[in-house]
Amino acid sequence: MTTSDHPVGIDFGGSGIKGAPVDVEQGDFTADRVRIPTPQPSKPDAVAEVFAELLTKFPDCHGPVGVTVPGVVRHGVVHSAANIDKGWLGADADALFTEATGRDVHVVNDADAAGLAEVRYGAAKGRSGLVIVTTLGTGIGSALVYDGVLVPNSELGHLEVDGHAAETRAANSVREAEDLSWEKWAKRLTKYYRELERLFSPELFVVGGGVSKKAGEFLPLLDIDTEIVPATLRNHAGAVGAALYAWEESGKG
Ligand code: BGC
Repeated sequence: MTTSDHPVGIDFGGSGIKGAPVDVEQGDFTADRVRIPTPQPSKPDAVAEVFAELLTKFPDCHGPVGVTVPGVVRHGVVHSAANIDKGWLGADADALFTEATGRDVHVVNDADAAGLAEVRYGAAKGRSGLVIVTTLGTGIGSALVYDGVLVPNSELGHLEVDGHAAETRAANSVREAEDLSWEKWAKRLTKYYRELERLFSPELFVVGGGVSKKAGEFLPLLDIDTEIVPATLRNHAGAVGAALYAWEESGKG
């Protein structure tokens, strides 16, 4: 594959929009990642402009572009906006970004992108059966991957546990806001992962999100039966997974 063919992965987060070309054979960036602050408010048009600007930093790359969005995405249209500007609801993100950038853009849920990357290149590489990748961040994202195939938009962060959407009790942002000790947070996470075990009986849980670099502090405190491991692509997973998604959706994979 030549440089110009590489897909570009863009991770659209609450504070930063980060992107780089990705070698989909290796699952790694082929150039330094560029970060541009997320416009506030993060309305679709403003975000699309940032994507266009970001792509100009990689003038030699003409491949498809994958973009993560922290919401349900079906056929390129965003159908939920729990933690982002409500202007995303109903937005045809594929069409908007394709028009703004002049590129072949494919939009995917952020946790699904991370899940694809972890299963293809990371902590769940080579694992068969059901793998559940969860991202612990502002909300809780989830990816269900069975024998390497993604079942998109699982939205298990919104699963009700003790009468509350799980992410409102157990997301990393809640740990920070309530200044929870690792022990207290681990109790909430245990309830959450036990509920996932009860419903899905997965082979493996992978835990992503920025806090996964501190996995040693809280994963050993979880009292569950299923194997649970930290993500290995860390904060690259979203962009790498988005690029892989775009590559496959564009018919190149
Ligand atoms: C959203 C998901 C997203 C997750 C992580 C949740 O609030 O509903 O779509 O994957 O946050 O960003």
